[in-house]
Amino acid sequence: MAVHARGKRSAVTCELKCGNQCAHDVPNTSDNDSFRDVASRAFSRRRMLGGVGGGALAIALAPSMEASAKGRPAGTGKGLRFSPVAPVPADVDAVTVPKGWTWSPVVRWGDPLFDDSAEFDPTAQTEESQLGQFGYNCDYLDVLPLDGNRGRRAVAVVNHEYTNEGIMFPPGTDADTVKRVAMAAHGLSVVELRRQAPGRPWEYVRGARLNRRIHVQTPFALTGPAAGSDLLKTADDPVGRTVLGTQNNCAGGTTPWGTVLSGEENFNQYFVANATPENARYGIPSTPGGRAWWTVDPRFDARQPGYENEVNRFGWIVEIDPEDPDSTPVKHTALGRFKHEGASIRIARDGRAVAYSGDDERFDYIYKFVSRRTMQPGNGKKARAHNKTLLTEGDLYVARFEGDSPASEIDGSGDLPADGAFDGTGRWLPLVRDGRSMVAGMGVAEVLVFTRLAADKVGATKMDRPEDIEPNPVTGKVYCALTNNTNRGVGSNPGVDEANPRVTNREGHVIEITEKGNDAASLTFTWNLLLVCGDESSAGTYFGGYDGPVSPISCPDNVAFDSTGQLWVSTDGQPGTIGLDDALHRVTLEGPDRGKVEQFLAVPREAETCGPVIHDRDGLVFVSVQHPGEDGSWADQHSYFPDYVAPGSLSGGRWGGPRPSVVQVHRA
Ligand code: FEO
Ligand code: CA
Ligand code: CA
Repeated sequence: MAVHARGKRSAVTCELKCGNQCAHDVPNTSDNDSFRDVASRAFSRRRMLGGVGGGALAIALAPSMEASAKGRPAGTGKGLRFSPVAPVPADVDAVTVPKGWTWSPVVRWGDPLFDDSAEFDPTAQTEESQLGQFGYNCDYLDVLPLDGNRGRRAVAVVNHEYTNEGIMFPPGTDADTVKRVAMAAHGLSVVELRRQAPGRPWEYVRGARLNRRIHVQTPFALTGPAAGSDLLKTADDPVGRTVLGTQNNCAGGTTPWGTVLSGEENFNQYFVANATPENARYGIPSTPGGRAWWTVDPRFDARQPGYENEVNRFGWIVEIDPEDPDSTPVKHTALGRFKHEGASIRIARDGRAVAYSGDDERFDYIYKFVSRRTMQPGNGKKARAHNKTLLTEGDLYVARFEGDSPASEIDGSGDLPADGAFDGTGRWLPLVRDGRSMVAGMGVAEVLVFTRLAADKVGATKMDRPEDIEPNPVTGKVYCALTNNTNRGVGSNPGVDEANPRVTNREGHVIEITEKGNDAASLTFTWNLLLVCGDESSAGTYFGGYDGPVSPISCPDNVAFDSTGQLWVSTDGQPGTIGLDDALHRVTLEGPDRGKVEQFLAVPREAETCGPVIHDRDGLVFVSVQHPGEDGSWADQHSYFPDYVAPGSLSGGRWGGPRPSVVQVHRA
């Protein structure tokens, strides 16, 4: 199982994380045009240095309009000082941090969250014990202050994307127990943190008031125009307004009003469903296989009469309020249904909330939602209640990118065209506007439930797997990680275009979008590729025009920003492409060093770096370490992160095996 599939993730990750999506046919078979012929001219990356990317286009800061995530005023810090770490070979089972820094776990898989939770014992997990403990494979993370500037209390919100039963359970564990525990390890955790003083590391608080597990049986309220539609009704929910559970929660975003958005990504792999064009477009299998959750919860067999629509009730952006443990989390149909990587908010000049979201599949799309109502300032009870309704009503768009260079100059190698940049203009194409469908032959509910099919019809640009997309709280520019697409330009698949310029794109790229007038609600934009990833010694890589040494970077996944507006990029797949442990990098965006990539940390063997949170004014960086030791087995574990005690031992809550965990990195 240790072979690397499609030059990226391990075969185990491919199977467990996304149900081998890359091994299946590309689900987007629409003839929606978004590509050009591959031509043959080659230009060197270096030849065009100092072109468009060289920092000359730095736009004026507009911090007054940038409602950054709660508790994080933008543009006021100095940033972190560190010496970049050297790249770490892929077999190293350690968290590697810069000289003078150290790390510690904040909360680990199995840590008990409530007073009556069972202690972690991987040899005897039950559904009940797991529901009282921190879940598996942590992804999106935020750490939100609870006591303003005093800095001693915070709450962490964490996604749990998926499970790896082969390394979680001893052989011989009852199959039903395995499935129930694995289901209970999905979802999200809300965990209170405390510390002795600002600037010191955090610890989690067992039994704290806000601690909460949200899981696959937690009731969610559907909101927006598709709520209550026939497409969302089932035998258990004949009114189509309440869904049990969330799953495969990947990236996310914290709203300016203090709630957390989380993306239901590869939800298809949990179901079996009838073979319909709609289900096929979402990659939902019509023959039993994969995780087969229906053996313990029959609704996941969506072939059954009365349950055909259960599959339509996943693939949404969910919103939870971490400060109200009794609140009912919601699924927002107005933002459309696809394999949401996550969603991130920027406030438009007129106060409307704009949510950006990527659909992480080869040749799928980038979307944005613009709310009908405007955000109310402040965090009083009334404003908060109002702002929590913003994502229930508004307009939905999908992105089309046009390059400005001749098609003949986009030769598939990654070498820059003659104007020195992969760049151009773009448009947000409406799918729903003013409460009406803008897609011929589809009503509003159909557009929102079958958003991929709607976007196919309007000419959206087929992208190289849009992962995290987030607006920079300092400049307002929007950054999307396009992690890779080894099918680009291969066989009958679409060829390159200026926004996706490499054939067999194993390493991915990062696109920078500048909305017209720097207003998030604009319907046109300019764009350029900030990074064309890889090792700088490789042909066809590009680092924003920066000509000095850069850390190698491959398969960008999550993006984040520090208080100075520098970009941080975490990776998922470097072991399979450049033979390195996955990493967290800082990327300078403005000035002469634009495009400089500096590696801050590496995660342990076979892990992915997720959910970066940069509290630079506090001297702290947090990441979720997801799927350490992914390719191992119970008898042959490949990682001992984070406890690093004797293999198999269990003492004082520390275990000799891999535990996906949130870690903090701070000065030694
Ligand atoms: Fe779960 Fe697209 O990463
Ligand atoms: Ca160009
Ligand atoms: Ca991701």
